[in-house]
Amino acid sequence: MKILSFGSLNLDYSYRLAHIVAPGETISALELGVNCGGKGLNQSVALRKAGAEVWHAGIIGTDGMMLKEMLDSAGVNTSLLKIDPVTKSGHAIIQIEEGSGQNCIIVYEGTNGLVDKDYIHDVVEHFEPGDFAVFQNEISNVDYAMQCCHAKGLRVVFNPSPMTDKLLSSGVWEFVDDLFINETEGFQITGKNDPEEILMEMKARYPHCRTILTLGSDGSIMLVDGEFVRQAAYKCEAVDTTGAGDTFSGFFTALSAAGRTYKEALDLASRASSLAVRKKGASAAIPTLQEVLDAWF
Ligand code: RIB
Repeated sequence: MKILSFGSLNLDYSYRLAHIVAPGETISALELGVNCGGKGLNQSVALRKAGAEVWHAGIIGTDGMMLKEMLDSAGVNTSLLKIDPVTKSGHAIIQIEEGSGQNCIIVYEGTNGLVDKDYIHDVVEHFEPGDFAVFQNEISNVDYAMQCCHAKGLRVVFNPSPMTDKLLSSGVWEFVDDLFINETEGFQITGKNDPEEILMEMKARYPHCRTILTLGSDGSIMLVDGEFVRQAAYKCEAVDTTGAGDTFSGFFTALSAAGRTYKEALDLASRASSLAVRKKGASAAIPTLQEVLDAWF
């Protein structure tokens, strides 16, 4: 069983600031770090560090070779990655608040917006029914890519961030087997505010889809066989929260694919994201499964 991670790769420009900039305000950054990120790349690294065999598909520009090198050094297969000679790589401008580690992110799509139907067909033909396909909403034609993977019998895993009106009206949820959403996204999809109501509404509308609802510092919750299952967050002093959600979804997916129960996968994914926020950077901060086990067991 193989895992296809079809997603964004971004050069992350991470600025540490005394506080997140307010409208009309100019402040000096305390520090700038240029890191490898993008929700797709982060998920690939998390999947790999949790022990999965991962193929990353996506597009970078010639300015983004450090993104490919990062994936290669993590042990992610990059044979399906494309390098566009003209367009610049995607990038993100990230503000990180000193003290809390909270962030604000602007994403510029760059080459992530060049994913077209021909490339999707070329990628999907390398995978078989029963393989996993992991997506987020930072590449073009993501709805079509998920539809192709679903039609081929792959298990489709989706984090619909950043949410858009186009995605909300796309009907893409029909193709999703595992969906990672937060409360805001849950409200956008279902019109419900309460976590339990969001999960019940998702189950009623999309019975085949397993929804994992993340609740920030309150952890996460799932609805399985009519029972609500809650996972607490492992509290810590956060240095940089960038990529914590990608770590969580990557670990949960890799561990589920490896045969762990959903309760074990939730618990270990929660521990992994707690370790990730203690270090600077998105992908660089993601721990290995062994580091997670060593930290607690
Ligand atoms: O989820 C964190 C990621 O969001 C960052 O690495 C940034 O590139 C944006 O895609």
